[in-house]
Amino acid sequence: MEDKESIKNIWQTIQEETERRVKAEPVLASFFHTTVLEHSSFSSAVADLIANDLGSTSVQPMMLISVIKDAINSSDEILAATVIDLIAAKEKDPSCRYLSEPLLFFKGFKSLQSHRVASWLWQNSRHTLAHYFQSRTSEVYGVDIHPAAKLGKGIMIDHGTGVVIGETSVVEDNVSIFQGVTLGGTGKDIGDRHPKVREGVLLSASSTILGNVEIGRNAKIAAGSVVLNDVREGTTVAGVPAREVGKSEGNVPADEIDHLIEKEN
Ligand SMILES: CC(C)(COP(=O)(O)OP(=O)(O)OC[C@H]1O[C@@H](n2cnc3c(N)ncnc32)[C@H](O)[C@@H]1OP(=O)(O)O)[C@@H](O)C(=O)NCCC(=O)NCCS
Repeated sequence: MEDKESIKNIWQTIQEETERRVKAEPVLASFFHTTVLEHSSFSSAVADLIANDLGSTSVQPMMLISVIKDAINSSDEILAATVIDLIAAKEKDPSCRYLSEPLLFFKGFKSLQSHRVASWLWQNSRHTLAHYFQSRTSEVYGVDIHPAAKLGKGIMIDHGTGVVIGETSVVEDNVSIFQGVTLGGTGKDIGDRHPKVREGVLLSASSTILGNVEIGRNAKIAAGSVVLNDVREGTTVAGVPAREVGKSEGNVPADEIDHLIEKEN
């Protein structure tokens, strides 16, 4: 769990990076001031960014800021999860060089933080406002997560576009999710009908996982697969329908980034 001191240090790093960015790109100076430099804390910046993205003509960002702050202040867990997500985005995405980047620019990271607020609202029986967050997150970031879905921490949603996560899904800690991933129902079941994704799993681009199936710890789901059955811990599956094609040999696929790095000669 991230303690107050480390959150403070991360916030300081983000502010220092942003100050350097103002000098490097004056066109965005006002943007950097309103999003980061005018804020006294990390939580205040997160609340402001998400509220401004998700506000609309009929729901002013100021009203959303106060809801997001209520969620963040309700316990230490939400803010700690946000910080762990930020670190995960920075460490797992080789194109991400600064801690400030996911906060300012990555819709996968921002959609996850919006979901954390929607999930808190859902648990407090404010279902309508939770659905507002879900729907605006889908419109603005292209990521549609039902507020009742249970997501752990240290999750990286890379690119975000087209990710759909259904109501009874569970995604444990340290899972990497690429664009176009669906965790959906088969349409044949009611009740608990969505996938359960265990720790360390890699869900590659455009993979579709349907039904109340279990994706075992450290499994890899190849790009474009359609998964209809349980996947054993530490295995790779590929194809339509997905079949076992390999093993992850003790590695944590969600942390592996080799497939994204262009090899230097
Ligand atoms: C699955 C993946 C992670 C590789 O995992 P791996 O355990 O190293 O698997 P391998 O590369 O050894 O492949 C094992 C077999 O599955 C096949 N395979 C791999 N990916 C596949 C896919 N997406 N669809 C169908 N078959 C696939 C390979 O051709 C190989 O078949 P073979 O044994 O007949 O030669 C990788 O292929 C993949 O899909 N990466 C996608 C990452 C991504 O989403 N990137 C988006 C960045 S924007």
